[in-house]
Amino acid sequence: MRISVIGTGYVGLVTGVSLAEIGHHITCIDIDEAKVAMMASGISPIYEPELEHLMEKNIQSGHLSFTTELHFSSADVIYIAVGTPQLPDGTSDLQYIEQASQVIARSLTKDTIVVTKSTVPVGTNHWIKTLIEEAAPEEIKVTIVSNPEFLREGSAVYDTFNGDRIVIGTENNQGREILDDINASFGLPIYHTDLKSAEMIKYASNAFLATKISFINEISAICEKVGANVEDVALGMGKDNRIGDKFLNAGIGYGGSCFPKDTNALVQIAGNNEHDFKLLKSVIEVNNSQRMKLVERAREAVGDLSGKRISLLGLSFKPNTDDMREAASIPIAQELVNQGADVVGYDPIAIPNARSFLPEEVQFKETIEETLRGADVALIITEWEVIKSIDLITYTTLMTSPIVIDGRNCYSLDEVRRHPIHYISIGRPEVQNRFVGNSLNTR
Ligand code: UDX
Repeated sequence: MRISVIGTGYVGLVTGVSLAEIGHHITCIDIDEAKVAMMASGISPIYEPELEHLMEKNIQSGHLSFTTELHFSSADVIYIAVGTPQLPDGTSDLQYIEQASQVIARSLTKDTIVVTKSTVPVGTNHWIKTLIEEAAPEEIKVTIVSNPEFLREGSAVYDTFNGDRIVIGTENNQGREILDDINASFGLPIYHTDLKSAEMIKYASNAFLATKISFINEISAICEKVGANVEDVALGMGKDNRIGDKFLNAGIGYGGSCFPKDTNALVQIAGNNEHDFKLLKSVIEVNNSQRMKLVERAREAVGDLSGKRISLLGLSFKPNTDDMREAASIPIAQELVNQGADVVGYDPIAIPNARSFLPEEVQFKETIEETLRGADVALIITEWEVIKSIDLITYTTLMTSPIVIDGRNCYSLDEVRRHPIHYISIGRPEVQNRFVGNSLNTR
């Protein structure tokens, strides 16, 4: 099938490349000329495992092309994958959706199918259809389909080919049949529903996952008070199939381009429909305070942070991505700078992006050793493999009096107890070891 994809952000690019990989002819459209030229030469503007390899392969085979030209006359189906960023009041900014709809309407010469991949508030697909039909020549009919995206950054390509389900919300059988055909080669279960329910599934799924994270973070706070271990608690809970063992990792809260934006948007959608979504408001509140936990712990451990050298290990919102959107490192670095600390940051790939997200006072280092040398406190923010695998001896060698505050529970407590280190993690007992004479004194 010939498919045009408007917008080459995370969702648009991964969708376009994956649809090309299963045999469709894809034209990815973006207004950013420099970005289009870069992608046309096989270079991905985002760091995403496997993506560049599939881009190159499908450009060469003639299944994938990139353009700034907004023409859709040869397309059988048009996908909208433009951004829906958050406005200051938490609602979604639909200006790019509106622009895309107008552009589509202007170039339509025949009836067409428009598929919305962007995350949009309930009712938006009906609005898009009306916008296009009103602006298009009178006889043209548009079939609109809601096909929300559930991919995770860092494993977006894997998720597209191995996801749990494809959700297709339609207004008629024609849309349903064509989308079934397009997606058949992914070989994944397809769940069919109406347009509004499909739109809601996306928000409800992200809100539920965010709720799991805030829930386990609240449990971790109680574990710290009563001396329990949140990891064991989560494992024990997860044995119950009704709960499941995924998304129960306590840490410094959720970040990224989806959970913060979509939870805020759902609170707004509820409010606009006279429903006070109290539970989700609490989930957001818990997440905001969870992010500051490492700073509070650092203060408790060393007192006044002014003039203290604090290393941040990992800056992106999660591993395997250079995405800094809503990363916990941002409020953490800002607060440390506000308190007068000397902040040094390391990330295996996100430093170029981090420079524009973190306060200018933050210094960046290319290696873990340079980041830790002479530090008073090390904060583990992102559980990159290279960070999880730092030998604990590295901390004891490079830091004068090593205090490691692990926001991602990267180390086993048994391992930590063998080293002269002050180790604080999330929802687990604190370890405070010192060498006294030749023996290790453990608390
Ligand atoms: C998420 C959803 O998983 C995906 O389905 C949706 O389409 C977009 O949003 P993503 O933001 O890429 O994907 O990352 P994800 O792996 O889900 O993690 C989100 C955040 O939650 C990260 O900051 C991560 O560190 C945090 N998290 C995740 C936890 O703190 N604990 C967990 O147990 C899981």
